[in-house]
Amino acid sequence: MLNILGFAGSLRNGSYNRALLRAAADLVPKDAKLQIFDLEGIPPFNQDLETSMPKIVREFKTKIRSADAILIATPEHNYSIPGVLKNAIDWASRPYGDNSFEGKPVAVMSASTGMLGGARAQYQLRQTFVFLDMHPLNRPEVFVTFANQKFDEKGKLTDEKTRQFIKQLLEALVAWTRKLGNQEIS
Ligand SMILES: Cc1cc2nc3c(=O)[nH]c(=O)nc-3n(C[C@H](O)[C@H](O)[C@H](O)COP(=O)(O)O)c2cc1C
Repeated sequence: MLNILGFAGSLRNGSYNRALLRAAADLVPKDAKLQIFDLEGIPPFNQDLETSMPKIVREFKTKIRSADAILIATPEHNYSIPGVLKNAIDWASRPYGDNSFEGKPVAVMSASTGMLGGARAQYQLRQTFVFLDMHPLNRPEVFVTFANQKFDEKGKLTDEKTRQFIKQLLEALVAWTRKLGNQEIS
Protein backbone atom coordinates (compact mmCIF):
# COMPACT_ATOMS: atom_id res chain seq x y z
CA MET A 1 0.00 0.00 0.00
CA LEU A 2 1.18 3.47 -0.81
CA ASN A 3 0.73 5.91 2.01
CA ILE A 4 -0.35 9.48 1.11
CA LEU A 5 -0.44 12.24 3.70
CA GLY A 6 -2.90 15.07 3.01
CA PHE A 7 -3.32 18.43 4.66
CA ALA A 8 -5.37 21.54 3.93
CA GLY A 9 -4.40 25.18 4.38
CA SER A 10 -7.61 26.15 6.16
CA LEU A 11 -8.77 25.79 9.74
CA ARG A 12 -12.36 26.74 8.95
CA ASN A 13 -14.95 24.17 10.03
CA GLY A 14 -16.80 24.44 6.75
CA SER A 15 -13.64 24.70 4.67
CA TYR A 16 -14.04 23.62 1.05
CA ASN A 17 -10.39 22.58 0.98
CA ARG A 18 -10.78 20.35 3.99
CA ALA A 19 -13.87 18.94 2.29
CA LEU A 20 -11.85 18.31 -0.88
CA LEU A 21 -9.39 16.21 1.11
CA ARG A 22 -12.26 14.20 2.62
CA ALA A 23 -13.56 13.59 -0.90
CA ALA A 24 -10.06 12.53 -1.96
CA ALA A 25 -9.94 9.96 0.85
CA ASP A 26 -13.00 8.29 -0.76
CA LEU A 27 -11.56 8.43 -4.27
CA VAL A 28 -8.06 7.13 -3.58
CA PRO A 29 -6.95 4.13 -5.72
CA LYS A 30 -7.18 0.67 -4.13
CA ASP A 31 -3.42 0.35 -3.75
CA ALA A 32 -3.11 3.55 -1.70
CA LYS A 33 -4.54 5.16 1.37
CA LEU A 34 -4.89 8.81 2.32
CA GLN A 35 -4.34 9.95 5.87
CA ILE A 36 -5.37 13.52 6.71
CA PHE A 37 -3.37 15.71 9.10
CA ASP A 38 -5.17 18.71 10.56
CA LEU A 39 -3.03 21.85 10.89
CA GLU A 40 -5.18 23.13 13.77
CA GLY A 41 -2.99 23.79 16.81
CA ILE A 42 0.30 24.40 14.99
CA PRO A 43 1.65 27.58 16.62
CA PRO A 44 3.24 30.49 14.73
CA PHE A 45 6.74 29.60 13.62
CA ASN A 46 9.48 30.69 15.98
CA GLN A 47 13.03 29.87 14.99
CA ASP A 48 14.09 29.91 18.65
CA LEU A 49 12.06 26.70 19.05
CA GLU A 50 13.25 24.82 16.01
CA THR A 51 15.62 22.59 17.96
CA SER A 52 12.96 21.87 20.63
CA MET A 53 9.86 21.81 18.49
CA PRO A 54 6.28 21.74 19.81
CA LYS A 55 4.80 18.20 20.03
CA ILE A 56 2.29 18.79 17.23
CA VAL A 57 5.06 19.89 14.88
CA ARG A 58 7.12 16.80 15.72
CA GLU A 59 4.05 14.67 14.97
CA PHE A 60 3.53 16.48 11.69
CA LYS A 61 7.16 15.95 10.67
CA THR A 62 7.01 12.26 11.58
CA LYS A 63 3.88 11.75 9.47
CA ILE A 64 5.45 13.56 6.52
CA ARG A 65 8.58 11.42 6.76
CA SER A 66 6.65 8.17 6.88
CA ALA A 67 4.45 9.14 3.92
CA ASP A 68 5.29 7.99 0.39
CA ALA A 69 3.60 11.07 -1.09
CA ILE A 70 2.00 14.33 -0.03
CA LEU A 71 -1.32 15.88 -1.12
CA ILE A 72 -2.00 19.54 -0.31
CA ALA A 73 -5.37 21.26 -0.63
CA THR A 74 -4.92 25.02 -0.52
CA PRO A 75 -7.26 27.98 -0.42
CA GLU A 76 -6.15 31.22 -2.07
CA HIS A 77 -5.75 34.19 0.26
CA ASN A 78 -4.91 37.52 -1.34
CA TYR A 79 -3.54 35.81 -4.45
CA SER A 80 -1.23 33.65 -2.36
CA ILE A 81 -1.23 30.65 -0.03
CA PRO A 82 -2.78 31.15 3.43
CA GLY A 83 -0.45 31.94 6.32
CA VAL A 84 -1.65 28.78 8.07
CA LEU A 85 -0.25 26.63 5.28
CA LYS A 86 3.01 28.54 4.86
CA ASN A 87 3.52 28.43 8.62
CA ALA A 88 3.13 24.64 8.73
CA ILE A 89 5.46 24.21 5.76
CA ASP A 90 8.08 26.42 7.39
CA TRP A 91 8.02 24.36 10.60
CA ALA A 92 8.28 21.05 8.78
CA SER A 93 11.21 22.26 6.70
CA ARG A 94 13.34 23.09 9.73
CA PRO A 95 15.85 22.99 11.33
CA TYR A 96 18.23 23.41 8.42
CA GLY A 97 19.32 19.98 7.24
CA ASP A 98 16.21 18.29 8.65
CA ASN A 99 13.59 19.20 6.05
CA SER A 100 10.97 16.46 6.29
CA PHE A 101 9.58 17.21 2.81
CA GLU A 102 12.86 16.49 1.05
CA GLY A 103 12.46 14.17 -1.95
CA LYS A 104 8.72 13.65 -1.46
CA PRO A 105 6.36 13.48 -4.43
CA VAL A 106 3.58 16.04 -3.99
CA ALA A 107 0.27 16.87 -5.66
CA VAL A 108 -1.79 20.00 -5.19
CA MET A 109 -5.45 20.90 -5.50
CA SER A 110 -7.26 24.08 -4.56
CA ALA A 111 -10.79 25.29 -3.99
CA SER A 112 -11.88 28.90 -4.00
CA THR A 113 -15.15 30.73 -4.22
CA GLY A 114 -13.67 32.73 -7.09
CA MET A 115 -13.49 32.05 -10.82
CA LEU A 116 -9.82 30.93 -10.88
CA GLY A 117 -10.21 28.24 -8.23
CA GLY A 118 -7.01 29.13 -6.37
CA ALA A 119 -4.71 28.90 -9.41
CA ARG A 120 -2.50 31.78 -8.26
CA ALA A 121 -2.01 30.18 -4.85
CA GLN A 122 -1.10 26.85 -6.46
CA TYR A 123 1.70 28.41 -8.49
CA GLN A 124 3.05 30.18 -5.42
CA LEU A 125 2.94 26.90 -3.52
CA ARG A 126 4.82 25.20 -6.33
CA GLN A 127 7.58 27.78 -5.92
CA THR A 128 8.19 26.57 -2.35
CA PHE A 129 8.67 23.02 -3.65
CA VAL A 130 11.90 24.13 -5.31
CA PHE A 131 13.65 24.95 -2.04
CA LEU A 132 11.90 22.09 -0.25
CA ASP A 133 13.35 19.77 -2.91
CA MET A 134 10.03 18.04 -3.51
CA HIS A 135 8.85 16.35 -6.71
CA PRO A 136 5.60 18.01 -7.78
CA LEU A 137 3.12 16.26 -10.04
CA ASN A 138 2.51 18.57 -12.99
CA ARG A 139 -0.83 17.28 -14.22
CA PRO A 140 -3.77 17.10 -13.90
CA GLU A 141 -4.22 20.48 -12.29
CA VAL A 142 -7.26 20.54 -10.04
CA PHE A 143 -8.73 24.02 -9.55
CA VAL A 144 -12.17 23.97 -7.96
CA THR A 145 -13.84 27.22 -9.03
CA PHE A 146 -16.99 28.64 -7.41
CA ALA A 147 -16.55 26.10 -4.63
CA ASN A 148 -19.67 27.30 -2.79
CA GLN A 149 -21.72 25.69 -5.60
CA LYS A 150 -19.97 22.30 -5.53
CA PHE A 151 -20.53 20.98 -2.02
CA ASP A 152 -23.72 20.25 -0.15
CA GLU A 153 -24.51 21.68 3.30
CA LYS A 154 -22.70 18.76 4.97
CA GLY A 155 -19.51 19.48 3.03
CA LYS A 156 -19.87 16.56 0.62
CA LEU A 157 -18.45 17.19 -2.83
CA THR A 158 -21.46 16.82 -5.11
CA ASP A 159 -19.95 17.96 -8.40
CA GLU A 160 -19.28 14.82 -10.43
CA LYS A 161 -16.72 16.43 -12.78
CA THR A 162 -14.66 17.60 -9.80
CA ARG A 163 -14.83 14.10 -8.27
CA GLN A 164 -13.44 12.68 -11.53
CA PHE A 165 -10.61 15.27 -11.58
CA ILE A 166 -9.62 14.34 -8.02
CA LYS A 167 -9.68 10.64 -8.92
CA GLN A 168 -7.39 11.31 -11.88
CA LEU A 169 -5.08 13.42 -9.72
CA LEU A 170 -4.75 10.62 -7.16
CA GLU A 171 -4.12 7.99 -9.83
CA ALA A 172 -1.44 10.21 -11.36
CA LEU A 173 0.14 10.84 -7.95
CA VAL A 174 0.34 7.10 -7.24
CA ALA A 175 1.88 6.43 -10.66
CA TRP A 176 4.32 9.34 -10.21
CA THR A 177 5.37 8.11 -6.77
CA ARG A 178 5.99 4.60 -8.06
CA LYS A 179 7.93 6.00 -11.00
CA LEU A 180 10.16 7.95 -8.66
CA GLY A 181 10.83 4.71 -6.83
CA ASN A 182 9.76 5.92 -3.41
CA GLN A 183 7.70 2.76 -3.11
CA GLU A 184 8.74 -0.75 -4.09
CA ILE A 185 6.67 -2.01 -7.00
CA SER A 186 4.89 -5.18 -5.92
C1 LIG B 1 -8.24 36.55 3.80
C2 LIG B 1 -8.92 36.01 2.57
C3 LIG B 1 -8.41 36.31 1.32
C4 LIG B 1 -9.00 35.75 0.19
N1 LIG B 1 -8.41 35.99 -1.03
C5 LIG B 1 -8.84 35.29 -2.11
C6 LIG B 1 -8.12 35.35 -3.34
O1 LIG B 1 -7.11 36.01 -3.48
N2 LIG B 1 -8.58 34.62 -4.38
C7 LIG B 1 -9.71 33.84 -4.28
O2 LIG B 1 -10.07 33.19 -5.26
N3 LIG B 1 -10.42 33.76 -3.13
C8 LIG B 1 -10.01 34.47 -2.04
N4 LIG B 1 -10.69 34.37 -0.84
C9 LIG B 1 -11.93 33.59 -0.80
C10 LIG B 1 -11.62 32.13 -0.57
O3 LIG B 1 -11.50 31.49 -1.82
C11 LIG B 1 -12.75 31.47 0.19
O4 LIG B 1 -12.90 32.09 1.46
C12 LIG B 1 -12.54 29.97 0.38
O5 LIG B 1 -13.73 29.42 0.86
C13 LIG B 1 -11.37 29.68 1.32
O6 LIG B 1 -11.12 28.30 1.41
P1 LIG B 1 -11.71 27.36 2.57
O7 LIG B 1 -13.19 27.22 2.25
O8 LIG B 1 -10.99 26.07 2.40
O9 LIG B 1 -11.50 28.02 3.90
C14 LIG B 1 -10.16 34.95 0.30
C15 LIG B 1 -10.67 34.68 1.57
C16 LIG B 1 -10.06 35.19 2.69
C17 LIG B 1 -10.62 34.85 4.05
